[in-house]
Amino acid sequence: MTATSISSRGETLAFPPGFIWGAATAAYQIEGAAHVDGRGASVWDTFSHTPGRIADGHTGDVACDHYHRYADDVRLMAELGLRAYRFSIAWPRIQPAGSGPVNAEGLDFYDRLVDELLAADIVPYPTLYHWDLPQALEDLGGWTARDTAYRFADYARIVHDRLGDRVGTWMTVNEPWVAAVLGYGIGVHAPGRASAAEAFRASHHLLLAHGLSARVLREGGAREIALTLNLAPVLTPAQLSDPDLPVSAEDAEAVDRVDCLINRQFLDPVLRGEYPRPTLEIMDRIGGLEHIRDGDLATINQPVDLLGINYYTPCVVRSAPGEPANAAYPGTEDIRFSGAHAPTTAMGWAIVPTGLTQVLTRLSRDYPEVGLLVTENGAAFDDLVDGDRVHDTDRTAFFEGHLRAAHAAIEAGADLRGFLVWSLLDNFEWAEGYHKRFGIVHVDFETQRRLPKDSALWYREVIRHNGLRRERARRPTLEAVAARAGVSRSTVSRVINGEDTVSDEFRAIVMNAVDELGYVPNSAARSLVTRRTDSIALVVSGPAAAASADAGADDPAFSVTLRSVVRELEEAGKRVTLMLADSQDGRTRVERYAASGYVDGVVLVSGHSSDPLPAALVRTGVPVVVLGRPVAAHTPYADVDDAGGAAAAVAHLLARGRRRIAAIAGPPDSLASRARLEGYREALRDTGYRSIIAVGDLTLASGADAMRQLLRDDPALDAVFVAGDPMAIGALRALAESGRRVPEDVAVVGFGDVATASYTVPALTTVRTPGTEQGRTAARLLLRHLAGGPASSAILPTELVVREST
Ligand code: FCB
Repeated sequence: MTATSISSRGETLAFPPGFIWGAATAAYQIEGAAHVDGRGASVWDTFSHTPGRIADGHTGDVACDHYHRYADDVRLMAELGLRAYRFSIAWPRIQPAGSGPVNAEGLDFYDRLVDELLAADIVPYPTLYHWDLPQALEDLGGWTARDTAYRFADYARIVHDRLGDRVGTWMTVNEPWVAAVLGYGIGVHAPGRASAAEAFRASHHLLLAHGLSARVLREGGAREIALTLNLAPVLTPAQLSDPDLPVSAEDAEAVDRVDCLINRQFLDPVLRGEYPRPTLEIMDRIGGLEHIRDGDLATINQPVDLLGINYYTPCVVRSAPGEPANAAYPGTEDIRFSGAHAPTTAMGWAIVPTGLTQVLTRLSRDYPEVGLLVTENGAAFDDLVDGDRVHDTDRTAFFEGHLRAAHAAIEAGADLRGFLVWSLLDNFEWAEGYHKRFGIVHVDFETQRRLPKDSALWYREVIRHNGLRRERARRPTLEAVAARAGVSRSTVSRVINGEDTVSDEFRAIVMNAVDELGYVPNSAARSLVTRRTDSIALVVSGPAAAASADAGADDPAFSVTLRSVVRELEEAGKRVTLMLADSQDGRTRVERYAASGYVDGVVLVSGHSSDPLPAALVRTGVPVVVLGRPVAAHTPYADVDDAGGAAAAVAHLLARGRRRIAAIAGPPDSLASRARLEGYREALRDTGYRSIIAVGDLTLASGADAMRQLLRDDPALDAVFVAGDPMAIGALRALAESGRRVPEDVAVVGFGDVATASYTVPALTTVRTPGTEQGRTAARLLLRHLAGGPASSAILPTELVVREST
């Protein structure tokens, strides 16, 4: 019998041998002990004690009290199986005034910490600068002063002299973009200055500090030198769904300009010894280039062994003539920054794991010399403590998605050496204080109790297996039956297929094992090799099912979308079963069907806010892609940009001089209807014009009724945005009845671009939704996921089709 070897075979997504697994923190965020053992003040002490700067006036005075509890914390890391720990060294503990006298007690602390880590077999990865600049240096100009970079190199030498015999890898500065821009450019971080010119000076001096200290460390014999950058793919909203989509020349320029500010402003000087031209032009325009001296770029371009990547979320931009520059990105006139239309963390950051794949593969392509290490990736969620557990499934799903994305990058050739989660502990999250919890370990800030969250326990397993389970825990497999029965897989297969080449005795043993394990023998009989059923369920749930049953004529676009799902899946060799779940019975049937392993995956059409099916299906573990709005956090989905489409429709009405713009919304429990209404409200928000809303149920008759209602409420209205074409056609009818001319008296925009929209009189201006593309995308996302790729989502852009009704 070979039961043990069977359960693991082919089930893990293995990372390369020796992959570095660990967690990260930073000194000011966890240490506390702000006034202990000779520590000097840092800019963060001053800033956090300035009223109004930090949420609820929180400070890092006590934080996680790690300074006193470090030994327990290291023990905890060991229990969680961490192999590496990235922490930062507080400059003001080492040199309280930023230069001059060294504080022995400060060095002693890190000495003890390093020893404790080594004793626990955890590799220390110190970062020399994670934002806690000694206040004394800030008083002399901080990072806007060139001298600060030289003082930093002195400090690096002091620390290396003490720890260099035990620390192999040294990280110089953490996220110079954040330190410079949030600290000096917009002032939401310490030291709280707000000048674009100063931010550029600070950036350059932080890079210089990196180069000077790298040189010192190398001379001192450091084995590996790294710096850590916050990097993000810069994409247009359309590229977010499909990175290979071609973009217009204007959008390409917008993307490049922002990329040059957030990514290449740092990557190019460090790894190529030059600033990108667009960055130089912006710097020159905003504050001049005097601070960049001859030889600086050669100093900055020291050889580095590892690049630390902090990835949280992508940056989404597009060309928008007339848009003022974003304060955090000086020089970005005519560019609009938008959110990513994806589920978000408690920070409001869109969750886009594929962004990590993009960052990593791009780095290995454009800067092939340097090794890569994810030095931060993680998420804040509103965790709830339940006894002695924290069931932070959102965070686990976040990490799982990003690890899959990292693995995909490795498969595509990226030289990724390790992954450090942010963060070990809940901690002082800068301007957000203690409200945003990023830890895999929960910290009760009253009692300082540490409680590993479920994500930490999950991570321990990932580390132990050096990877992830490739697939959901499936129902018992053919192999499991073979193992239980002590026979070969082909014997099981022959028994199940009713072949008479197996003796009665063995047949009985196999059937016994089948019963004991509750094995459902469909897929195995079909495919011994792939363990796949090659079947996909296309499930239409809730009101969508009801609508497709009785209002098919009202929504032909819907069947087009469904047909494209089927076509795409069939072309990939899958059998597709269409299932309607418009009743409790129907839902139970679908759930059982999926759970018992008859299908490899599900494309689910739901879109109803109170539909319980999506969550139930996700719980079965079967891979699901939602066609439409995501209903459960982290379920991948293919949606269209309803809000953006509605906003474009209203913007068009405004541009045509309309001022009293009403809306006919769809049913409020439809997520798409809600998003369209949001887009309408959003577009009116800053105009000062009021919103006037009536609600229909998507049918033509309800559109006519709603229009009559609106005319009674506001006889002078001059435009109406209708969240569905059939309702818009009803509205046209009601307007004609009332003697209003379209568009002279009232302009009308619909949504959906159904086939009849161009035949109404006058022809209807409407928002076209990419139905075929949406169906195809949902199918592709599922296929890619089933093939082991990341579970990603897509939002497809809509298009305004202008006809005669506006
Ligand atoms: C990064 C910082 C880190 C933490 C995370 C959430 O920008 O390096 O200290 O605050 O964000």
